Amino acid sequence: MPSRARSRRASARAFAVGAAVIAAGALAAIAACSDAGAPAGPGTPGSSIHEYPPVPFGSPPGASSAARSAAAALGRGVNLGNMLEAPTEGAWGVAVTPDIVDQVAAAGFQSVRLPVRWSNHAEANAPFTIDPAFLARVDTVVAALLGRGLTVVLNMHHYRQLDGDALDYGEVAVPAGVVDVRFVRLWEQIATHFRAYPSGLLFELYNEPHGRLDSTAWNVLAARALGAVRRTNPTRVVVIGPTSWNWAGALSALKLPNDAHLVATIHNYAPFAFTHQGAEWVSPRLPTGVTCCDPAQVAEMTGPLKVARPWADAVGYPIFVGEFGAYSTAPTASRVAFNRHMRDSMEVLGMPWHYWEFAAGFGVYDPVARTFRAELLASLLGPPAP
Ligand code: BGC
Repeated sequence: MPSRARSRRASARAFAVGAAVIAAGALAAIAACSDAGAPAGPGTPGSSIHEYPPVPFGSPPGASSAARSAAAALGRGVNLGNMLEAPTEGAWGVAVTPDIVDQVAAAGFQSVRLPVRWSNHAEANAPFTIDPAFLARVDTVVAALLGRGLTVVLNMHHYRQLDGDALDYGEVAVPAGVVDVRFVRLWEQIATHFRAYPSGLLFELYNEPHGRLDSTAWNVLAARALGAVRRTNPTRVVVIGPTSWNWAGALSALKLPNDAHLVATIHNYAPFAFTHQGAEWVSPRLPTGVTCCDPAQVAEMTGPLKVARPWADAVGYPIFVGEFGAYSTAPTASRVAFNRHMRDSMEVLGMPWHYWEFAAGFGVYDPVARTFRAELLASLLGPPAP
């Protein structure tokens, strides 16, 4: 099992921005688009999970050339984290501003992973309609990123009830019996909305499934969501990762749907004692002052990659690292060394990557000074070390 022991992170982040503001904003968003008292009538989309049979899974045919090209186009990328996957945009201190879109593109990143907390912006009961204003907001961001020539991985992030986690501050629970079908129905709506977008837009079904999403549950649910996406997007490239927070060690239990337009993903925060030192959302809080990267740490970093590469080759799909990074509480020189090692190791193994993340606690960009943190940027995109 991975060592990603986590506690509720929202409480820590909420302090930064003002709890009252978040609560008011999030509750207003839910109230505006939710009718919690209304029973779903027969025929209401999303009334039953059985409306969404899983795509058969377990004997995937191998990746299409479209899936391979899409994965290659990811290249070197970055997560726009803590923005649209906060309970409401801005609640964790950063938002997707035009400046940020410009800077991502100008720096030379080839792709962006866009984490989005759809679950906090949709009805609690069928048909689980996504707040049109939020959908329009995400649409604006996706269009702006694509317009800058970036490949975009649009995901679903932090649907807390799906993992069986406690809600973040500012969220409202939905009935337990609808959690799964709501997930699939959200994807049906997202896919319908973005159906006409170019192939440079990829969908990633769910960030870091864990908890109640064990491999058995996740394999079926992912296949159901893929079926919902395929109703409107027959060839859209879809990204699927394993359980245990997208841990490479759980790849062996991931049964990909029998579909060619897929790409696999993992996350890699090893060595966790280095990357998450001082992180407020990890309990117990890990001591600071840990440096990187001695040979044992390098082995920890590269171990998951060396599991993922042969797995992907054997199933016949590309794989990329959707998150890696070290928190700002780690010593800067060590963060630089960590990024360099990770980047080189992933690239040697032919794995595209997304650094976690752009402008918040792991940020390669300082949104206040409106400038890149030069050493971090160079560690990711600069010339190879002499
Ligand atoms: C989470 C982030 C978190 C990061 C590092 C991501 O998967 O979504 O909120 O900061 O992991 O822990």
